[in-house]
Amino acid sequence: MAHSITLSIQMYSQTIVEHLANPRNVGELQNPSGRGDVTNEACMDRILLTIKMDAEIITTAKVKAEGCPPTIAAASVLTELIIGRSLDDVARLTRHDVEAALEHLPAMKKHCAALAIDALQSAIDDSRRR
Ligand code: FES
Repeated sequence: MAHSITLSIQMYSQTIVEHLANPRNVGELQNPSGRGDVTNEACMDRILLTIKMDAEIITTAKVKAEGCPPTIAAASVLTELIIGRSLDDVARLTRHDVEAALEHLPAMKKHCAALAIDALQSAIDDSRRR
């Protein structure tokens, strides 16, 4: 059992392992400026992202993630990528930016970065509707 856990952790970059050990900005904001709640229907991983803005700048972001280790790490690193930046700026982020921030994702886990971007886009769309 311990052997299989060691093997699966070795699939991931040190950055992913560090985010798993110490996930950033976990939680859900009350009265957010935008809320994105997305689920990958194939694997059922889920990310709920809430953001608060002040004059188009994202001042706070909280995230809840359920699913595989790269999804947890992608959600965590996403908050670091967006806090302190303008909505227009973060709207240009892609899954490649999330992958780069995590250093590496195995090919079969690249869609976890896409799920984080889907959560971001959903939160942005929600904030623009409010
Ligand atoms: Fe599907 Fe992580 S395994 S999003």
